[in-house]
Amino acid sequence: MIFLGIESSCDETGVALIEAHASGVPQLRSQALYSQIDMHRAYGGVVPELASRDHIRRVLPLAREVLADAGVSLDGIDVIAYTQGPGLAGALLVGAGVAVSLGAALERPVWGVHHLEGHLLSPFLSADPPVFPFVALLVSGGHTQLMRVDDVGCYALLGETIDDAAGEAFDKSAKLLGLGYPGGPALAELALAGNPVRFDLPRPLLHSGDLNFSFAGLKTAVMTTLRKLGEQPGAQDRADLAASTQAAIVDVLARKSLAALKSTGLARLVVAGGVGANAALRARLGAESIKSGFTLHYPELALCTDNGAMIALAAAMRWQRNGPQTDSNHHFNVRPRWPLATA
Ligand code: KG4
Ligand code: ZN
Repeated sequence: MIFLGIESSCDETGVALIEAHASGVPQLRSQALYSQIDMHRAYGGVVPELASRDHIRRVLPLAREVLADAGVSLDGIDVIAYTQGPGLAGALLVGAGVAVSLGAALERPVWGVHHLEGHLLSPFLSADPPVFPFVALLVSGGHTQLMRVDDVGCYALLGETIDDAAGEAFDKSAKLLGLGYPGGPALAELALAGNPVRFDLPRPLLHSGDLNFSFAGLKTAVMTTLRKLGEQPGAQDRADLAASTQAAIVDVLARKSLAALKSTGLARLVVAGGVGANAALRARLGAESIKSGFTLHYPELALCTDNGAMIALAAAMRWQRNGPQTDSNHHFNVRPRWPLATA
């Protein structure tokens, strides 16, 4: 079975083909991605209307590209999967519209996929795939969640952020430091030259006794610290503040993940979403996994941020688990807000 996946929930247009058999890990046949980052950079963040218009420009050429790369004809597609939510409504509608039109034209089923399900299953495409059950730490620009994952489609929310997401904390702190969009990778790079213990920044909810997160206070602390440093903070001050900010985010994510493993009794941690690309987070979790004896699984670096492969994969794994669920009406309904536990 060949699954075409289309991702258009935010600022990346991703299309991919996955091949799956009744059992065994599905295989990536081809994928193509267009990142809108350069376009949004001028505005310091994602402009939803520009994002939607750009998805329209990119999605069909990318689809042609993956079909050509894999040597698959349009007729060779068995199922079309698209990101149904959560995300920007207009951006989601582009992927949904293309997926449903293709499905209607080809007389193939069309499945809406939850974006976060795509992220948390994406490590199955890596060289070291996890097995169920596991704890998933989902850390992206819009979400920070710990989930218990027992199987495909069996997701229980253990804890989540009560305000900003971890990626948002990176992005907003980076903006305060005068770094460009997206802030996460830029802040991580500046942090390389900095001292992570120079500034004692808050780690909210660390001892709350639950698995929730709060990052909104961090940007306020970064702002206050910058103000104390005066009009023109020096290069070392800025690097130290970046390193201390990253250390605070990484510390909270790592400790809460450990607490989730402890409370569930599970010994496997999957880390997914854009912030999962962060080298400091990987180093910290790697050290903790050796100390505490759990295994760690990441998607390949190229599949950490948004992509079409994870959407096709989620559909393929649902098919392997549940068999065909044919949607013959080709109705579509995007869900900009959609809790994963109800997917
Ligand atoms: O999963 P993703 O690509 O899109 C969403 O669904 O949100 O995640 C994007 C987020 C952004 O906030 C970005 O700054 C952050 O992931 N990010 C990073 C790194 N790479 C991406 N944050 C910290 N370190 C990185 N290396
Ligand atoms: Zn994402």
